[in-house]
Amino acid sequence: MAFPITRHRRLRRTAAMRSIVRETQLSVDDFIYPLFVTHGTDVKVEISSMPGVYHLSLDRLRAEIDVVVASGVKAVLLFGLPETKDAVGTSAFEADGIVQQATRAIKEWAPELLVVADTCLCEFTDHGHCGMIHHDPRTGSAEVDNDSSLELLVKTAVSQAQAGADIIAPSNMMDGFVGAIREGLDAAGFEMVPIMSYSVKYASAFYGPFREAAQSAPQFGDRKSYQMDPANAREALREAESDVLEGADMLMVKPALAYMDVIRMLKEQYDLPLVAYNVSAEYSMVKAAAANGWIDERAIVLETLTGMKRAGADVIITYHALDAARWLRGE
Ligand code: PBG
Repeated sequence: MAFPITRHRRLRRTAAMRSIVRETQLSVDDFIYPLFVTHGTDVKVEISSMPGVYHLSLDRLRAEIDVVVASGVKAVLLFGLPETKDAVGTSAFEADGIVQQATRAIKEWAPELLVVADTCLCEFTDHGHCGMIHHDPRTGSAEVDNDSSLELLVKTAVSQAQAGADIIAPSNMMDGFVGAIREGLDAAGFEMVPIMSYSVKYASAFYGPFREAAQSAPQFGDRKSYQMDPANAREALREAESDVLEGADMLMVKPALAYMDVIRMLKEQYDLPLVAYNVSAEYSMVKAAAANGWIDERAIVLETLTGMKRAGADVIITYHALDAARWLRGE
């Protein structure tokens, strides 16, 4: 009798054999590509810790959108760099805010391309927190005030939908944010605009390069009171549960690489589409190693993205989207 191992090898001998039994198919349809939009003209500035990712003014955004459409990627996620910041993040919910302007422009240039709006205040507040700060004169403490922040976030989401955003993606982690935004969207006539909730968002060092890119680092303290402790997995189920009950249409786990078990857990527990955010430092590490010639960038990226899908992600937000789309076409 042959060794049982032969049985495993039979199906691996040729590329065609491997492809008919392959369990996970990575596709360009899975990707969402993040973009950073800024005021001014003729701005295309590379983010130093994220080679290949840029701050783009609206006039330079056009060419980038053409590239995205040609790549077959179906959705972009917008982050904005406002001209002015204040305590309440006013520029997040102005009708002519940078994200609103970019959304209108993209929907005009490429109506089929989905625009996902990140609904948060940290890029727009002068203190860099995701909500409004309540200062307690008695104790001298400064904390994010959940309920007044919710009002501002609802205003932000509604203004994004008014500008034409196809999906609202609240990333702020305030308690009750999905329910509040759902109600606000419905009241404004946007019942059909889905919410992609950043349900499970860890207080992670992997957002470092993004905070340089979005100029959104907190000016005091950290986000540990509203983002999750990396040591907790079961808490992720509680976070996701409240979002599901409040009406989220998609759930998200962020970051992805160090949290594959959480992706799997949510996939098994819920039937909503699941998004993994392959965040900035996951991208920067690959780019740095590739630039040094230490790794094969193409192989590493495709293996990593396949791993996220295998873990359970239906959708992947990734700065590698355009490269991966090209590689999947065999170019
Ligand atoms: C805004 C937001 C952040 C990211 C996405 N939306 C930063 C943060 O929470 O500090 C991080 C994305 C990345 O690292 O690529 N709240």
